[in-house]
Amino acid sequence: MQYFFIIFHYIRKVFTKIQQFYVSKVIKQCGKHFRMYGGFYLQKPQKLILGDNVTINDGVYINARGGITVGNDVSFSAGSKIVSTGLDVNKDKFNQSHIDKPIFIGNNVQIGTGAIVLSGVTIGDNVIIGAGSVVTKDIESNCIVVGNPAKILRKLKREYE
Ligand SMILES: CC(C)(COP(=O)(O)OP(=O)(O)OC[C@H]1O[C@@H](n2cnc3c(N)ncnc32)[C@H](O)[C@@H]1OP(=O)(O)O)[C@@H](O)C(=O)NCCC(=O)NCCS
Repeated sequence: MQYFFIIFHYIRKVFTKIQQFYVSKVIKQCGKHFRMYGGFYLQKPQKLILGDNVTINDGVYINARGGITVGNDVSFSAGSKIVSTGLDVNKDKFNQSHIDKPIFIGNNVQIGTGAIVLSGVTIGDNVIIGAGSVVTKDIESNCIVVGNPAKILRKLKREYE
């Protein structure tokens, strides 16, 4: 039984590497050293731009309908969600009121596990988004944000080089 799990583990790793190669080819632009650790779900790959050294962990959900641009040295922790489709709450029928808005993520950003980034948001450089946080508004550079809605926990003294 133990051998079965070891073999399954390696088969899963191989599939992840195949998906990594596939994703790097189908998205709009992919920088150097893109890494995936586990499967993730991606809508509209043709509207996703990734910089260098981007890491995507298990169970990440990326909806790139509104366009998503990600800088260098960015990590998406397990289960985080980046959703570039919002809702026009003034429309009568909510299922017909989706609005796509772009998301921009800067350089050296860590998106904590289970965090959600909503449409139309820009995140600066050197930012940590705490686990489970919901980012509803722009986040300035050099800070840690936590909570729902995400607010600054602490500023960081740092320059992105
Ligand atoms: C955001 C984070 C980096 C802050 O770490 P830290 O600076 O060491 O912060 P602390 O643990 O000292 O907590 C400071 C305060 O923020 C709160 N806090 C920390 N993380 C929080 C979170 N994710 N959501 C809400 N509040 C949070 C703490 O409860 C504490 O509140 P208090 O001052 O009222 O007691 C960390 O908590 C976190 O979420 N890390 C991401 C973990 C992760 O995703 N790991 C996967 C990596 S692959």
